[in-house]
Amino acid sequence: MDAGPGTRGSGLVKANVVVLPGDGVGPEVVNAALSVLATVCDAADARVSIDVHLIGGRAIDEFGMPLPEETLEACKAADAILLGAVGGPAWDHLRGEQRCEAGLLRLRRELDVFANLRPVKVHPHLADRTTLRTEVIRGTDLVIVRELTGGAYFGQPRGRTGSGPDEIARDSIVYSASEIERVARVAFKLAQSRRGELISIDKANVLITSQLWREVVSGLAADYPDVTLTHELVDSFAMRLVREPATVDVVVAENLFGDILSDEAAVLAGSLGLLPSASLGATDQGLYEPIHGSAPSLAGRGIANPYGTILSVAMLLRHSLHRSDLAAAIESAVDVCITEDVLTSDLGGTASTDAVAGAVAREALRHLGVHSGAAS
Ligand code: IPM
Ligand code: MG
Repeated sequence: MDAGPGTRGSGLVKANVVVLPGDGVGPEVVNAALSVLATVCDAADARVSIDVHLIGGRAIDEFGMPLPEETLEACKAADAILLGAVGGPAWDHLRGEQRCEAGLLRLRRELDVFANLRPVKVHPHLADRTTLRTEVIRGTDLVIVRELTGGAYFGQPRGRTGSGPDEIARDSIVYSASEIERVARVAFKLAQSRRGELISIDKANVLITSQLWREVVSGLAADYPDVTLTHELVDSFAMRLVREPATVDVVVAENLFGDILSDEAAVLAGSLGLLPSASLGATDQGLYEPIHGSAPSLAGRGIANPYGTILSVAMLLRHSLHRSDLAAAIESAVDVCITEDVLTSDLGGTASTDAVAGAVAREALRHLGVHSGAAS
């Protein structure tokens, strides 16, 4: 996977991927995904260097803060960043900027990765593993585009004033027209490359930010005549998402609505452990992470589901490294492995984290036309 700096392999200048394993199961799923990345890159002679840094609880223990400057600087200089998960009981008592989550939010903001893509696809083999009826979820294939650097997560003023019964806590939902426009354009373009249907989520019957959101998104529709745009209120869409998910193509939502809807959508797939995400900005750089958390109760046991992180690596290859061929090989390999019941315990299987990675790597090589024992 390695070569001299600036060398070219398959048309790609050596890419620099910063890896932030994080806490809990983060390091385990990241290692599994990196072994798949190394296998496909070696097979395709793609040049990728890996640079590991601390974030979250382990960074607090080492540097006293969840996002050390050296981690942030390395991320800013990277072609792509792969993150495991942050947080755990040892750091739950911390408040404000000291919290693990604050480090992750600052990283998103500093990298200006404003569009968070969360694809949710129901694998036919897993359609009966969820709490919803098989006929309802079969065929589901949707993407939530979540605005990631604005809204209630960052809006000012925020904070607490006063004390006792008079104490006031305040968060602010703030959006500018340009912030709405840039994420909406990502969603329109994505819809163009898919089934051409975009649902914009808001609460325009109540919130002023939602009224601006709806106006701005509507105003862009003329630029994308091949996309059918509809607007839905977040509360009724939350019902539609579990009532008729297969009718949904691309969804665009502000930060907080997107956060909530994407966890709801994860139920459709069968396990939170299956789902990847890509956070993108104005450049090719991206931040890639599974949508699950650090799952402290699973950590250190070698049983965490690595599929979400492996699929995040596929998104990294496609969006930041422009290697759709390698991304497709990994995605096809994951499909085959799931069909063949290579499943971790969250999906009723007995496979270990490493066994899943080994199986995906072997199958990816087969897709790339490489028949060797290199991945075993
Ligand atoms: C997510 C998570 C984060 C968020 C937390 C960990 C801050 O829930 O990525 O969806 O709310 O964005
Ligand atoms: Mg969330």
